[in-house]
Amino acid sequence: MSPVPDIESVKKEISTAILDSPEALESFRLKYLSRKGIITEMLAGIGKAEPGDRARLGKELNALKKTADSIFKNAQKELASSLGKQIRATDDPTLPPPPFPAGSLHPLSRTLDEIKSIFFQMGFTVADGPELEDDFHNFTALNFPAEHPARDMQDTFFVRKNEHRPEEDLVLRTHTSPVQIRLMKQQQPPLRAIMPGRVYRNESITAKSYCLFHQVEGLYVDRHVSLADLKHTLITFAGHLFGSDLKYRIRPSFFPFTEPSLEMDIWWQTGNRSGQWMEILGAGMVHPNVLKSVEIDPETWTGYAFGMGVERITMSRYEIDDIRLLYDNDLRFLDQFP
Ligand code: DAH
Repeated sequence: MSPVPDIESVKKEISTAILDSPEALESFRLKYLSRKGIITEMLAGIGKAEPGDRARLGKELNALKKTADSIFKNAQKELASSLGKQIRATDDPTLPPPPFPAGSLHPLSRTLDEIKSIFFQMGFTVADGPELEDDFHNFTALNFPAEHPARDMQDTFFVRKNEHRPEEDLVLRTHTSPVQIRLMKQQQPPLRAIMPGRVYRNESITAKSYCLFHQVEGLYVDRHVSLADLKHTLITFAGHLFGSDLKYRIRPSFFPFTEPSLEMDIWWQTGNRSGQWMEILGAGMVHPNVLKSVEIDPETWTGYAFGMGVERITMSRYEIDDIRLLYDNDLRFLDQFP
């Protein structure tokens, strides 16, 4: 015969049992209250106890059985009523469903979608390229001189750096301009495409700069493409995105891959704040060295290119004053763009 458990420890067990499911309830019943249960067996064992102890044992065991019974019955009642509630709440198909929070497009996606649709109307297609670039596409083919500061570790994330053979360097692309090179290697002119994507810069993170952001590159190569074509495209684009009463200016600038180069600013004024010029893009006529690097004859073909920052445009349109908000994924921010 198995050793008889003592009354105190059984009492403790039953009063701490967790009876939160029909299965737990049933195993409690089997273990303590059924015909082969512990308490029943203990009661049956009274006859083997010392005659002087029998009366006291019987009393204590009957009390134990009563306690177990009432624990069982109470738990049974509670479980039935909570299951009943669950069934009632889910069983009525005419009740309105619980609220279902719908997502919405991120402000960056909205700006990007709009930029794309404006260029689609002007006959541009879309191309893309890898975010991990080699030295040739990110720098050399774009006419960057060997000692250009962008090739510095301070500005660029190098994934592989070879001091002696820079042509083997691998970088996280610092701009979308390398996609121009890939496109011109794949397709003969005439070609006209925009190239949206992520770019990376090794900059300190502040309200104005982040280690990654988005650009939309543009490229048009054909016979007789002129600076006037470029200006017309940029002005039409900005008018669509910011409204036709937009005030803009176009300034001369410098990029290794365009000649001449320019930048476009728009006059930005919100609410009753004083306005300011804000640079939205760089552009220019594709440098003959760039065309040569992809074996396109610059005597036959000319082209223009441009590149714009999507974060900057988004921040001005939605009056967002900290670029990090665009990357935090804080619902309190995102909920403001339903
Ligand atoms: N790649 C330049 C940048 O990241 C932007 C740019 C300027 C792109 C002029 C162009 C261009 O295509 O023609 O700052």
